[in-house]
Amino acid sequence: MRQPLVAGNWKMHGSRAENASLVSGLLDLLQPGKRAEILLCPPFPYLMETGRLLKDSGVALGAQSVCAESQGAFTGEVSAAMLKDVGCRYVLVGHSERRQLFGERDALVARKFVAAQGQSLVPVLCVGETLEEREGGQTTSVVSRQLEAVLAVTGVQALARAVIAYEPVWAIGTGRTASPEQAQEVHAMIRAKVAERDATIGGSVRILYGGSVKASNAQELFAMPDIDGGLVGGASLKADEFARICAGAG
Ligand code: PGA
Repeated sequence: MRQPLVAGNWKMHGSRAENASLVSGLLDLLQPGKRAEILLCPPFPYLMETGRLLKDSGVALGAQSVCAESQGAFTGEVSAAMLKDVGCRYVLVGHSERRQLFGERDALVARKFVAAQGQSLVPVLCVGETLEEREGGQTTSVVSRQLEAVLAVTGVQALARAVIAYEPVWAIGTGRTASPEQAQEVHAMIRAKVAERDATIGGSVRILYGGSVKASNAQELFAMPDIDGGLVGGASLKADEFARICAGAG
């Protein structure tokens, strides 16, 4: 059985005061004894303090990106060892905003994935097609290419210690969610690609859906057989909304 995971990606939002009230509101609202694992990914400067606010709550801490290099003259970058040192367990790699706005290509995403695992961080590998690609019938080829670029470097075994997030770019921050059936179709394809290489890992790897997840659509998305939770942007900035999404994951 795959344990559901609901991750909040705060992106470049928040302040010390806002984060404190968001986290305390969320911790008040999260229902104890639920099966789903919860993860918060604040911006770098707030990682340590958010980690302190989450102490003993069972909610995990993650970062939104990581440098592929381990240390050295890389101004402005943050290493996997640093993320580990401040209490992160997870890190997003290959988020579409990194790919589209900051020029991260498949090869770099693969190196970041490796750097994260080198410090025992769990990478959340984000994949997904643009609207143009979907309309051009390229969803499967784009998502497969993004996945294969990592698998070619790491081998399938690495996915035993990773999470995949399918985030159609056209659904991110647009209010336009993939239908549960549209998402399920891609999730099943991803799982089949992994299972072709290793059936056990194909069955156990968690695949999250991301793109305009909200309380009103989370439950029907999470009910699909190959959707194991969500990667939530905008709706993770509101404690009550995010808590309801978490509750929807079981
Ligand atoms: P959204 O973002 O929920 O605001 O669409 C999801 C993401 O980019 O991870």
